[in-house]
Amino acid sequence: MNITFLLNGETVELAGVSPTATLLDWLREEQLLTGTKEGCNEGDCGACTVMVSDPSGAKALNACILFLPQLHGKAVRTVEGVAEVDGALHPVQDAMVTHHGSQCGFCTPGFVMSMVTAHANGATDHDTQLAGNLCRCTGYAPIIRAAEATEGAPVPQWVSTDRAFRMPEAAPARDNAFLPTSADELATLYAEHPDATLVAGATDVGLWITKQLRDLRQVIFLGGCEDLKQIDITEDAVRLGAMVDMNAMGAAIDPLHPSYGEMIRRYASVQVRGAATVGGNIANGSPIGDNPPALIALGATLHLRQGDARRDVALEDYFVDYGKQDRLPGEFVEAVSFPRQADRLKCYKLSKRFDQDISTVCGCFNITVDEGVVSAARIAFGGMAGTPKRATAVEAALVGCPWAVETVSAAQAEFAKDYAPMDDMRASAAYRLDSAAAMLARYFAESQGQAVNVLEVSA
Ligand SMILES: Cc1cc2nc3c(=O)[nH]c(=O)nc-3n(C[C@H](O)[C@H](O)[C@H](O)COP(=O)(O)OP(=O)(O)OC[C@H]3O[C@@H](n4cnc5c(N)ncnc54)[C@H](O)[C@@H]3O)c2cc1C
Ligand code: FES
Ligand code: FES
Repeated sequence: MNITFLLNGETVELAGVSPTATLLDWLREEQLLTGTKEGCNEGDCGACTVMVSDPSGAKALNACILFLPQLHGKAVRTVEGVAEVDGALHPVQDAMVTHHGSQCGFCTPGFVMSMVTAHANGATDHDTQLAGNLCRCTGYAPIIRAAEATEGAPVPQWVSTDRAFRMPEAAPARDNAFLPTSADELATLYAEHPDATLVAGATDVGLWITKQLRDLRQVIFLGGCEDLKQIDITEDAVRLGAMVDMNAMGAAIDPLHPSYGEMIRRYASVQVRGAATVGGNIANGSPIGDNPPALIALGATLHLRQGDARRDVALEDYFVDYGKQDRLPGEFVEAVSFPRQADRLKCYKLSKRFDQDISTVCGCFNITVDEGVVSAARIAFGGMAGTPKRATAVEAALVGCPWAVETVSAAQAEFAKDYAPMDDMRASAAYRLDSAAAMLARYFAESQGQAVNVLEVSA
């Protein structure tokens, strides 16, 4: 297929691109721009971070799981392109030197690109911005000091030039890869080619290529469908288009449900969240995706579309069995919506590493108490079954009972009726069941005003 984008300020036109060629391979092997490093090749280390801009803003993304067609109409900056043309260093590069932010330097280009992007966006939550960049030598303190030192430094002119780059004419469709620019176009294409693979953020599909070496016969990229990126928050409801990325979703959710917002902050890294979409996180049917339990606890509805036909399903019914979802050939996720409600949702993500790790168990609790009695409960878990699943027996043990320790203790025993989790490398079944029960106790303690967050509790 043919694509056009800006690379370090120069227009690049590529013909006959393989739809699953990654930006990282192309930069290193075809352009010999070897500043962008390959560490894990699966989105985990940040060594391959680049900055990708369009009129909506600048993102730090992992080049190893970014397919070239996803860049059509965008501007890419690599570490080779951030200094001034006269060779003057970018303030971030300068600060990394001054503050001794690098030893072996394998990680450094990725750190620099995350920091350059954060600097361009005026972001100063440096720990969060850099949680997706791993360094084994320097230690993070000098790197964080370098990031702090650049706060307020002038943003180079090229940042706005990159953002102003406008989408060229849509790339001509090829029979093995398509770049629709609206949900309508996507609906028609997918109905005609139901066996094609949809690619949203490619944070799953990217790994099918880099790790499983799969061949994808036909690919439809959803990134150009701007109408699938809408976030609508009304008095009664919240509706998220399927292509809303996790960073945008986190920003929208945080004021409504801070606990859910905090869970999204711990979802992978800035780079992965900038690519991963809510539609992809639901559609993939993963039993350990972080959004489904939270959305099920909120009573979310999934909006599916096949050609011109639309249907709604309760999100909990979409997950039929492990690897099996209620989705017809040629049907795609258009949006997800949920009722707007008071802030009583709590999301507890248990993972081996606090930041940037997949959940071992993710429990989401939405319990309503009226005059001391539980009047409604929606509880859903990831990591406890082959699908994200509601804890209906636990809910039944709570509803109608006083909101008290005795009720919680009795309800904890019901988890074994709801779930028969498995033993795997993340945790044993018994540990999972114990953790789920502990999370209910945690919800109760939190409702009584006790500090329960690991960041708040001290010995
Ligand atoms: C390093 C790393 C860390 C991660 N950490 C987490 C984490 O902490 N929590 C978590 O939940 N996940 C995590 N993930 C998994 C991944 O980010 C999510 O599953 C992600 O949301 C997938 O969304 P995507 O847009 O990237 O989907 P893609 O990879 O593009 O697609 C995923 C699947 O969904 C299908 N699909 C995509 N969009 C649609 C649509 N609109 N309609 C129908 N089908 C569609 C695709 O065909 C494909 O089968 C991580 C991944 C990586 C690489
Ligand atoms: S090489 Fe590790 S995130 Fe890309
Ligand atoms: S300086 Fe060596 S890995 Fe970061």
